[in-house]
Amino acid sequence: MKIIGTGSALPEKVVTNDMLAGFLETSDSWIRTRTGIETRRLLSTETLSELAMTAAMKALESSKMKPEDIDYIICSNVANSYVTPSLSSIIMGPLGCKCPCTDINGACVGFIYALDIADAFVKTGKAKNILIVAAEEPSRFCNWHERETSVLFADGAGAVVVTEGEGFRDFIVTGDTHTDVLYYKRQMEVTPYDRVEEKTQPLVMQGREVFKLAVRSCIKDVDTILERNGLTGKEIDMYLLHQANKRINDSIREHLGEPEAKFPLNMTKYGNTSSASIPILMDELSREGVLKDGMKLLLSAFGGGFVTGAAILDWSAIEYDKENNE
Ligand code: UT7
Repeated sequence: MKIIGTGSALPEKVVTNDMLAGFLETSDSWIRTRTGIETRRLLSTETLSELAMTAAMKALESSKMKPEDIDYIICSNVANSYVTPSLSSIIMGPLGCKCPCTDINGACVGFIYALDIADAFVKTGKAKNILIVAAEEPSRFCNWHERETSVLFADGAGAVVVTEGEGFRDFIVTGDTHTDVLYYKRQMEVTPYDRVEEKTQPLVMQGREVFKLAVRSCIKDVDTILERNGLTGKEIDMYLLHQANKRINDSIREHLGEPEAKFPLNMTKYGNTSSASIPILMDELSREGVLKDGMKLLLSAFGGGFVTGAAILDWSAIEYDKENNE
């Protein structure tokens, strides 16, 4: 399976660290040095489905596929204001696609999980051309009266179109239960039989624990996937890692002993956009011409669960229509 089109979309509203320091007990220097984040984009006037649609349309356009050529849509989304219908159902009609569609929740690893599922569909002939859209609004899970999580998370969408062909070599996806380190609980309706009134609990995160789990498990995934494909870290041209914290990515890079140039970052300007972070990064690098034909890429991510994922692929350059290439 290979990627033949990419797209991304971000909210217009740019929020700087100083703007947050205006109403939270935090500072630009704390956020920059502890996370690498300088600014982020947050939904204000747009909706998540609009961002998802824009990213998907750009991916479709660059893939040179028509909406009717798509025979499966997978959206990666942790939560949005609609519990049902799925985000993929919501965007399918306006996109002009008519095919099976589903959403998955793989937390920040959702994009790699979706690719892994798509790869199995393509291999078994269940589907040929698949649209994957990772669209997330984690800013809406945070407690904006507290500084712990609200300075980290941000909104955005990234999309790819995949089809048969040489590209992905291997995937690793793992799962485990660590509910306490990262969770967001939504209030459900009370029934005559279950009267336990639970309140919505905005995102709770044990930052240090997540940090340690992230570094340990991503290093394990990266080492395992390199070894079982007979590759060394040096043979990878670029590492597209989940964009949560620059220090997490630096720890993985230092373990591999590889140069900073191979570890592009977008959390500096976009914050942590959950499962959308890797496809947004991929789209921007591809459109800028940084990702070149034949480059070996390694993707790696971690997220609430605790889940992790990694993939290795050989990149095929995508030709973008110059007029729409912004
Ligand atoms: O997609 C997955 C999502 N999650 C993650 O990737 C999170 C992984 N963890 C992290 O990125 C880091 O643990 C954080 C950035 C969340 C926190 O950095 P840290 O270096 O682990 O800091 P800490 O939690 O140990 O807190 C150090 C200090 C504490 O104050 P005291 O106890 O030393 O007085 C915190 O209360 O920093 C304080 N602090 C803040 N100060 C200013 C915590 N958040 C903030 C803040 N601004 N926003």
